[in-house]
Amino acid sequence: MSILRIQNLSKDYVGGWGRKHRALNNLNLEVEEGEIFGFLGPNGAGKTTTIKILLRIIFPSSGKAWLLDKELDEALKMHKIGYMPENPYFYRFLTGDEFLKFYAQLTGVPREDAKKKADRLLKVVGLDHARRTRISDYSKGMVTRIGLAQALITDPVLLLLDEPMSGLDPIGRKEIRNLIHQLKEEKKTIFFCSHILADIEMLCHRIAILNKGNLVKLGTVKEILDSGPTHYTVSFDDLSPETLAQLSQLAAGVGEYGGVTNFTATDHDHARKLVETAQAQGARLREMRLDRGTLEEYFVREVGSRE
Ligand SMILES: Nc1ncnc2c1ncn2[C@@H]1O[C@H](COP(=O)(O)OP(=O)(O)O)[C@@H](O)[C@H]1O
Ligand SMILES: [Mg+2]
Repeated sequence: MSILRIQNLSKDYVGGWGRKHRALNNLNLEVEEGEIFGFLGPNGAGKTTTIKILLRIIFPSSGKAWLLDKELDEALKMHKIGYMPENPYFYRFLTGDEFLKFYAQLTGVPREDAKKKADRLLKVVGLDHARRTRISDYSKGMVTRIGLAQALITDPVLLLLDEPMSGLDPIGRKEIRNLIHQLKEEKKTIFFCSHILADIEMLCHRIAILNKGNLVKLGTVKEILDSGPTHYTVSFDDLSPETLAQLSQLAAGVGEYGGVTNFTATDHDHARKLVETAQAQGARLREMRLDRGTLEEYFVREVGSRE
C-alpha cells in the first residue's frame, strides 16, 4: 500500500503586489508502508510546504495528495499520523511528564490511560530520568526527543518529521537516528525532511531530492550513488621505487599518505592491471575499493549546478 501519495502537486505563494512565487512545482511522489523515506533539499526547496499541504495547514494551488490511501481530510481524522515540526516549541513550564499527559488528554485519551501512555513514551525516547524536569531546562536534544514522544502519542503508523536533527550535536543526532531506527522496527513509516545529507545517507532507503520546488532525483541511496561517477582506488604498502615509477605511469592518479600509496584506476579492468603488475614485482596489495563518491558530492553537483 502506498501510505503517502502526491500527484502533480504545486504551490504558489502570493507575495507583495500580488506577485506569485512557486514554492512547489508539479511534485509526484509515493512512499510505501514501512519505509524510511528521506526528503532532501537545501533551505527553501519546498520541503516544509509539502508537509504543510499533507497536513492541511495550507492548501495546494493544484494537484492532489493522499495519506494512508485516503483523501487527506479523511486520513487526518483517523489520528494515525504523527508530526514533528521544525524547531518545535513547547510549554516551558511543564515537565516532560505533564506535557505528554496533557497532550494525550487533548487527543481524547482518558486520564488514567494518558498517564500510562506518558510513562511508556518517556521510556521510549529515553527521558524517564527527566520526567519531572521542566522543558525549559531540557537540552536541545531532549526537546527534540520530547517532540518525538508527542508525535507518537496517537500511536501513528506514519510519522512526518521536519528537520528532526537540525541544531543537534553529533550525540543528539545519533540518539535521534537510533530512535528512528527503533520506530522502523515497530513497522512505522517515516517521512523525514532534512538538509543534512549524512543523516539521510545513514538512515534512509529511498530518497527524493528537491530543489527550488522541483524534484531533482528519486531513488535508493545506492541507485543515486551508482549513477554518479565512480573510480577504483588500489593501495599498496612499501613499494619499491621501480614499482612505484611503473605503476605511476599506468595509473590515472597517484598519492601517498602515511606510507600507503594509493593509485586511481578508471574501471575494474584498469584496477586489476595495476594489481597484477605490482604483484608480479612482489608488492603487497593493501586494499582495492570502488569509490562512488558520497551523497554530499552528488548533492552539491546536482543542486549546485542548478543555481
Ligand atoms: N507562508 C509563506 N509565504 C510566502 N512564501 C513562503 C511561505 N512559506 C514558504 N515560502 C517560500 O516557499 C519556498 C519553500 O519554502 P519551504 O517549504 O519552507 O522550504 P524548505 O522547508 O525546503 O526549507 C521558499 O522560497 C520560501 O521562502
Ligand atoms: Mg523547512
